[in-house]
Amino acid sequence: MAVVKHAEVFQQGAEARLYRCGFYGRPCIVKKRFVKKYRHPTLDTSLSSQRVKSEVRANLRCRMAGIPTPTIYLVDTGSNSIYMEEILDAVTVRSYISKVQDADGNCADVRLNPLAEAIGCLLGRMHDNNIIHGDLTTSNMLLQGDPSDLNLVLIDFGLSSCEASAEDKGVDLYVLERAFLSSHPHSQELFKTILTSYSAAASSGSKCSEALAKLEEVRQRGRKRTMVG
Ligand SMILES: Nc1ncnc2c1ncn2[C@@H]1O[C@H](COP(=O)(O)OP(=O)(O)OP(=O)(O)O)[C@@H](O)[C@H]1O
Ligand SMILES: [Mg+2]
Repeated sequence: MAVVKHAEVFQQGAEARLYRCGFYGRPCIVKKRFVKKYRHPTLDTSLSSQRVKSEVRANLRCRMAGIPTPTIYLVDTGSNSIYMEEILDAVTVRSYISKVQDADGNCADVRLNPLAEAIGCLLGRMHDNNIIHGDLTTSNMLLQGDPSDLNLVLIDFGLSSCEASAEDKGVDLYVLERAFLSSHPHSQELFKTILTSYSAAASSGSKCSEALAKLEEVRQRGRKRTMVG
C-alpha cells in the first residue's frame, strides 16, 4: 500500500506476521494474517476475515470503555491486515514478570503485586463491558514506559467476542490461569491477587462473581479430563 513505507518483519506468530513501518509519519505495526495451507481455502478465508473483524471490534470496544489498546489506523479486509499504532517503549508483561522473578527470586511477588492488581482491575473492567479476550496470556499484555507506572495495554483480540455469558468469562479467566502458571511457574499467589482485584473492579451488577464460580467449574472439568486421560 502506498501509505506504508519500508515495512520490515517484526514478529512472526502462529497465524499472523507483524511488520513495523510508518503510517503518515507515525510508528505503525501491520498485523497481516497469512494463508494457512493446511486449512480448506474457504474455511481459511472465512476464519481469517472473522479474526480481523473480531480484533478490530474488541479493540474499539475496549477503547470506548477506557481500556488501553493500540489505536487502529486502517483495516485492509482484502489482505486481512490491520494497521495500528506501535506501542513504543513497551515490554510484554510476560518478559517483565520473568525478568523480575529471575532478579528477585522469592521476593519477586512483593514487587509484582501492584502489577497483578492492575491486571485484575483491567480484566474486571473488560468483562464488565462484556468483552471476552479469547487469548489472555501475559504475552498479549504490554507495559508501556516505566513498568512501575503500570501502563497496561491489551493486544491480540483475534479470538475475542463481545457477547459474554458468565461461562465465557470463566473460560477467559481459565485460559489466563493456564497460560499464567505455565509461563510463570510458582506464581499461584500472584494469580490469586489478579482474581481478588478482578472481583473488586467489576461493578456490583456484573456477572463477575458468577464468572469466578464458572472458573471453578471449568477448573474441575479440566482436572477430571486430566484424570481420565
Ligand atoms: N501494537 C503493538 N505495538 C508494539 N508491539 C506489538 C504490537 N502488537 C503486537 N506487538 C508485539 O508483537 C507480539 C505478537 O503480536 P500479537 O500478539 O498481536 O500476534 P500473535 O500472537 O502472533 O497473533 P495471533 O495469536 O493472532 O496469531 C506481541 O506479543 C508484542 O510483543
Ligand atoms: Mg499474541
